This record gives sequence, C-alpha cells and structure tokens, in this order.
Amino acid sequence: MSDNNPFDLDNNEAWQRWRDHKLQQAPASLNDLIVEIDDPRTIRNSEHEAVLERCRRANMAIYVSPLEEEGTHIPRAVGMRFGLNNINHNRGAEGDAVTALTVQDDQLHAPYIPYSNKEIHWHTDGYYNRLDLQNHALLLHCVRPAVEGGENGLMDHEMAYLLMREAHPEYVHALMQEDAMVIPNHVVDGEELRPERAGPVFMVTASGQLHMRFTMRKRNIVWSEDPLVQAAVAWLGELLKSDSAHIFHGTLQPGWGLIANNVLHDRTGFEDGEDAEKRRLLYRARYYDRIHCT
Ligand SMILES: [Fe+2]
Repeated sequence: MSDNNPFDLDNNEAWQRWRDHKLQQAPASLNDLIVEIDDPRTIRNSEHEAVLERCRRANMAIYVSPLEEEGTHIPRAVGMRFGLNNINHNRGAEGDAVTALTVQDDQLHAPYIPYSNKEIHWHTDGYYNRLDLQNHALLLHCVRPAVEGGENGLMDHEMAYLLMREAHPEYVHALMQEDAMVIPNHVVDGEELRPERAGPVFMVTASGQLHMRFTMRKRNIVWSEDPLVQAAVAWLGELLKSDSAHIFHGTLQPGWGLIANNVLHDRTGFEDGEDAEKRRLLYRARYYDRIHCT
C-alpha cells in the first residue's frame, strides 16, 4: 500500500482526511445519485461526467432514460462508455456474457435465486470468484420492472467500511484477514465447477482501491470462527438491516440503470403479472474492471 492510503489501518492521518471528505460529500438521498440520460447507447460527455461525479462520491449512479428497447447491446454499450471491457462470463448468461435476469424455471437457471422472484439478501457480486478475478464493476439495465416489488437496496461499500472503522476498527482488521470467509466448492452432477475458496471481506486492490466481498446468505458460506470475525459479520448484518441514512432504496423503471463499483445491494421479492411476455426483465453485466472515476 502507498504511504497515504486511507485503507491502511496504521495510517490514521490519511484515514481521517479521507473519512471527512467522504462524509462531507456523501449523497443525502437516492435523488442525488440520479442522472438523466437521453440514450444509454450513446451517452454524451456531459452525461458521462455527471455519472462519474456520482461514482466518485458513492461508487454508483442511477441513470434515467426514456429508452424502451430490449437488447443486451444496451448494457454492453454503457459498460464500454465507462471503460468496462472485461466482462465476467457466467453460467446462465447470454452469448455476449450479459445476463438476462428474469424468472426462468428451466434446469440451468432454476436452482439460482437471481432467476427466481425471491428476495436476495445483501451481497456484493462475484465474492465467490478467484481473488484475482473479482467483479469490480456492476451494471443493471431495466427493460421491465415487476408488477410489484423487485426493489433494490444499495449501500456504498466504502461507506460500510467507514462506519465500521469508526465504530470498531478491530472488526475491519478481522475482516481483512485472508481466512475471514470460506466459500465451499460448487458441485453440479458430480462435477466440481468451483473449488473451495477462502478470502477476506475487505481487500485493497493493487491500485489502492477498497474492494468488498460479502454475502448475508447463511448457506454456502463458512465464516471464520474468530470471535472478532463473527462479531464483525453480525454488526454488518445489523447495519444493513437498519434505517441508516447511507442505505438507499429504489426500483429501476424501464430505460433506467445502475452503474456501480460493485456496491452492496439486495433485492426484495416480486410478483410478475399473468402475461409471461411482461415478466420483469433486467440485464446484468459484471466486470473485472473498475469504473475509473478518481
Ligand atoms: Fe447482485
């Protein structure tokens, strides 16, 4: 870590400077994160800068556009406009690696909650990936919301870190340990699709940025028995359940999207209408790159 990295637990001066600035310019509501865009496929320079300004402050922006078209080329175009070129291919995705999140009951998709209408607990994306292939950016683009529900909760992971470090720096230290969480291997039909993986919750990337790996799920995750890790995870769970002014809630509407540096997020359960053609449809793209906004 460089000499003035605020995420260095031994560097109080850099930390306090970073913390004060972060709090001073923190968004007060979801509205502060919203940027109006004419067409996400051809984002203008002024719109681009407005998105980056939100990302600098809170690692996320929500664009609002009147676009009613379908197609995975939309999030691909948005990603490329922000320098996101290294997309994470995952099972269940479309040919261009963008995932169409909609209720699907076929054998490939049915076991996975994102393709159901169930609630999804707080997490960051791809925490189960290899440590050198983490998802640093996340895009969502909404074609159709659900008839009811499907609201996202959003929290800047840097703000979660800030609040924890202010309250319990020893928890942050515990969550930076390399064995804080273990994700058991993933086996389908006797084939190991992913080996067991251990890693930290908070990590600092080679370029000095804070990255977070987290899930509130109880299944398929084994937390370290270190009492400080246990206490830190419980504290984080309480924070995310709370009505903290730093947690935002919103439901993406047609033509809207989320551009984020893989912040913490959740999703409420939802109801689709009778018409299968009108099911909730969101595109999701995850990238190994980070949005360069600083
Ligand atoms: Fe997610």
